[in-house]
Amino acid sequence: MVDSKVIVITGASSGIGEATALRLAKANHKLVLGARREERLQELVDKIVNAGGEAVYEITDVTDIHSVEQLAEKAMNQYGRIDVWMNNAGLMPHSPLIQDRVEDWNRMIDVNLRGVLHGIHAALPIMREQKSGQFINTASVAAHAVHAGGGVYSATKAGVTMISEALRQEEAAAGSNIRVTAISPAATATEIADHITDEATRERVAKAHAKLAVPADRIAEAIESAINMPADTAINEIIVRPTAQA
Ligand SMILES: NC(=O)c1ccc[n+]([C@@H]2O[C@H](COP(=O)([O-])OP(=O)(O)OC[C@H]3O[C@@H](n4cnc5c(N)ncnc54)[C@H](OP(=O)(O)O)[C@@H]3O)[C@@H](O)[C@H]2O)c1
Repeated sequence: MVDSKVIVITGASSGIGEATALRLAKANHKLVLGARREERLQELVDKIVNAGGEAVYEITDVTDIHSVEQLAEKAMNQYGRIDVWMNNAGLMPHSPLIQDRVEDWNRMIDVNLRGVLHGIHAALPIMREQKSGQFINTASVAAHAVHAGGGVYSATKAGVTMISEALRQEEAAAGSNIRVTAISPAATATEIADHITDEATRERVAKAHAKLAVPADRIAEAIESAINMPADTAINEIIVRPTAQA
């Protein structure tokens, strides 16, 4: 059996975050779950606890640095350490730039990019003190290629991979024993398409996902494998696509 780790996940109330929480709880890890929807977090914690696992939650808005600090405090108060911090909260309201959906652009920058930095702000000093830890940052295949309608999303996700790589280099140079993993999923069956505000784009993405998307637990499985590597080895980048996705 692998050691039990304290694992914090943002965006844990649905999709990839929820699936990862369920899988890691089954593997005997202790979960600290953050997102905005309390009911969903409570249901998830109940499910984990009823199955014999350990989890707590903290209502968290990753755009608010104090809220993210409180999530870290919850983990420290409850378990006294943070072994893994998964910056996973994100949204993908694609639209062509001519539609001028400034609110969507700003939300993506605030959640997908600033939210990741807030997570690093909250957890890195704790991991430095521990002299161990791991960040799992959810990027996307959109970090590796851009398509029409996805300019801002791709920019935020490319930013996540760049921040992850800088963090990796800095922590390696510091000898802090902190690992960094950027995971780039492709089409995954979650609620992500529901929040696309441009109707035509929402329908197109939902259709593509209905045809192709793999269950969120596949991404969770890849994350688990990165967590389970011996401490002297880091899986720094993972791309996971449905086999049939071009
Ligand atoms: N599904 C895909 O095909 C795919 C592909 C590549 C990458 N990704 C990435 O995977 C990550 C997870 O997305 P998903 O596919 O699992 O979608 P999802 O089911 O919509 O989950 C998104 C999660 O982010 C949370 N969230 C959104 N805004 C937040 C905020 N301000 N503060 C805290 N949490 C917030 C949501 O919780 P609340 O609403 O309760 O706050 C929810 O738990 C995202 O970073 C996404 O970009 C997804």
